Parts: sequence; structure tokens; C-alpha cells
Amino acid sequence: MSHNIVFSAKALELQATAREIADKHVRPAAAHYDKAQEYNYDAARAVAEAGLFRTFIPAEYGGFGAGILALALVTEELAKADSGFGVAFAVNALGSFPIILGGTEEQKQHWLPQIATGDKFVAFCLSEKFAGSDAQALSVRATLDGDDYVICGEKKWTTNGGVADVYTVFCVTDPNSRSRRISAIIVEKGTPGFEVKKVEDKMGIRCVPVVETHFDHVRVPKKNLIGGRPGLGFKHAMMTLDYARPGVAAQALGAAQGAFEFANVYANRRQTFGVPISKHQMVQQLLADMAMKTEAARWLVYSSAAAIDQLGPSPANSKMAAMAKCYASDVAMEVATDAVQVFGGYGYMEDYPIAKFFRDAKILQIYEGTNQIQRLVIARHLIREAAELEHLQAFIPIEIQKTYEEDEVTQEA
Ligand code: CAA
Repeated sequence: MSHNIVFSAKALELQATAREIADKHVRPAAAHYDKAQEYNYDAARAVAEAGLFRTFIPAEYGGFGAGILALALVTEELAKADSGFGVAFAVNALGSFPIILGGTEEQKQHWLPQIATGDKFVAFCLSEKFAGSDAQALSVRATLDGDDYVICGEKKWTTNGGVADVYTVFCVTDPNSRSRRISAIIVEKGTPGFEVKKVEDKMGIRCVPVVETHFDHVRVPKKNLIGGRPGLGFKHAMMTLDYARPGVAAQALGAAQGAFEFANVYANRRQTFGVPISKHQMVQQLLADMAMKTEAARWLVYSSAAAIDQLGPSPANSKMAAMAKCYASDVAMEVATDAVQVFGGYGYMEDYPIAKFFRDAKILQIYEGTNQIQRLVIARHLIREAAELEHLQAFIPIEIQKTYEEDEVTQEA
């Protein structure tokens, strides 16, 4: 590892602000917005007024340029209070990264300052009904017609859809190309032909809408093509996910920490056999494991974010981001499950906050790349790294290598 985890004064200040907002506007209202399946505009306004959307926007475009580690700290605080609100915040970064990483100077100057102030909310439209894990299999088409692109098709799982004003939409612009098939195009809410058709009824993160977005001959100016050249879309999508996955990992970390804190407090108060259940060894083991895994996730999350801040896009950081997303979300699911166990029957009831943590945690293992895809990304990097460790082959008995080779020949035959 060739980077340090440095918490800047700005990052710590933003973290403290996020904690205040979470305590005042997010946690007290979490159950209400979950039940009602409504967006928490009150908290979103507080986040905008406090400047938290500036966290991930570069300083030249009205942001604080505070970096991915600061974004992780802010996201963690909001998600600790309500996982759903954590993603409602972080998805604005996901939708903005294609512009930040791949946009032209003109596009950055036009869009980013409005996102920094919270005047415009953002969404990221990549997935489709038949293109989730296989992100190259998109079918939404954008065809050049004079000075416009005309977009047709349907996107699925658009988080923040309907609330967002700006959508980064990944479209097929050259169906005959293998490597330059896809381009990202900015579509504004209200453009004729662009509609939110289905608001999903979800198991968790119910305070943030996840929708289908439909494009019926949506005409947008050519200048909205991110990067100004077609065919860059898949690379922009992959780079965006590398930058955003530490943020999902931070949502997971917040969720794990939030569930653990409730379980810890409950275990100290709830009595059985004449003592608080935290005095029973079996509960102690649960709590100790929850605390230990959350802490391990924390440092993987911070490390993956700090690596991007210090070293920018790189294969090593892509692997780290996948590791953080995968590990932290698996921990969040495990900790939320054990928190229900600590609460016992009460944990299963919606009167208590723990059932919601459990429902919210599951999606973290699925969105922004399933944990199977994260493991695939990690494994691809490991194969490349193994090839770079040739000097170690000298220590591996040659007979074993021969056996492998023979096995391969036999299998092929
Ligand atoms: N950075 C830059 N470029 C990259 C890259 C990266 N991390 N990963 C791949 N590329 C490039 C490759 O170099 C290659 O370029 P060339 O064609 O020039 O050689 C090209 O992209 C294709 O790469 P692969 O052959 O590796 O691509 P693949 O088809 O095998 O797919 C994958 C790789 C990792 C499985 C990818 O499809 C993937 O990440 N899938 C998951 C998608 C995902 O996370 N979707 C979630 C969407 S967001 C969401 O959940 C909704 C929400 O609102 C929260």
C-alpha cells in the first residue's frame, strides 16, 4: 500500500456537520419517511444549506474539493442515521462523477456549480432490465440527428429518479463497435419524452425513490454528450463506479455502525435472568464480533477512499474500491442480522429501529455492482498481480506445476 490515510481539517469539519444534520433532521424522521416512502426534502435542504454537496465537487467549480475520503465520512454519518438517506445523498456524487471525470471544461462549468449548491440533484442511469451486471449489454439508443441526440429506450433502477433534475444516461451510440459502443449523455428533467414510469415498492431504503426512466424520442443537444466525443461511455461508467464504490462502502459502514450502536445500548438495558443481556457470554460474543468487523470495514473503506484521493484512477484503486464495497456491505448485512438477534422478538417488529436496518442493508450487497461482480473485479486484478510475482515460482515444486498443466490438457481434450 503506497498511500496514507490523512483526515484533512475540512474533511473532519464536514463530518461533524453531517453528524449534526443526521442527529437533527435524519434519525428522528427515518421511520416516518420509511413508512411513507417519501423523500426527506427537509434533510436534503439542510445538507444543501450546510454545503455538504460541495464535498465532492472540485474547488474550481464551486465545491470544496474535499475528496473521496471526506465524501465517505459525510456519507457514513448520514447512513448511520438512515441508510436510505445515505444513498439519497451519495447518489448525487455517483451521478456527478461522469461529468467530473470525463466532462469537457464547458460541461463542468455549466453543471457542477449547480450541483455543488444543491440547486440540482443528480441521478445515474446505467442499468436496464436486461443489462445490470453486464453493463456493456445496454440497449437504450441515442442517434445523432443534426445537432441533437435522440434517445429511445428504458432504464431501470434509477435511484433518485423523479427527485433528480439532472440524469447522466448511458446510451448506445455505435451499435457496431465493440469497444466504443456506449456514450454518456446529460438529460434534464422536463425534457419532452423523458418520464419516470414506475416508482418501485422496495424492501428497504424506502425514503429514496428507485424508478424506471423512459425515453421516447428524447431530443438533447449534442453539447450534452459527456466528454464531447462518442464512445467514451463505458470507460466513464467504470471510472465512475471506481470512484463511487468507496461511497457505497461508507453507506455500509454507517449502516453497520448504526445497527451496532442500537444493539449495544439495548443489550446494556434489556434484562434476562436478573442481569442485562450484555452480561451473557453468548450476547457478548455477538457484540464483540459486530464491533470487530465494523472496525475492520472502517479502515478498508477509509483506505480505499484515501487511495483515490492520493493516486487517482488506477487498477490498484479499482481493486481496493471493489474490496471496500464488498467487504463493508457483507459486514453491514451480518451486523444488521445480528442486531436483530440481540433485540430478539422486538428486533423483528417495526416499532423498533432495528428491522429497518436489516431491510436497508440487503441492497448494499446488490447495487453499484453486486458483491459477486466485486469479487470478479478483485479476482481479475489478482490474476494480473500473480503474473507479476514470477520470482515466487522458483519456490513452487515443478511437479505440481506439471500436474496443473497436464490437468488442463486432459480437460481440453
Ligand atoms: N476503469 C477504466 N476502464 C475500465 C475499467 C475501469 N475500472 N474496467 C474496465 N475498463 C475498460 C477496459 O480496459 C476495456 O477497455 P478496452 O475495450 O479499451 O480494452 C473495457 O473497459 C471493457 O472492459 P472489460 O472487458 O473488463 O468489461 P466487461 O464487459 O468484462 O465488464 C464488469 C466488466 C466489471 C463486469 C462491468 O461490466 C461492471 O462493473 N459491471 C457492474 C455494473 C454495475 O456496477 N452496475 C451498477 C449500476 S449503478 C446502480 O446500482 C444504480 C444506482 O442508482 C445506485
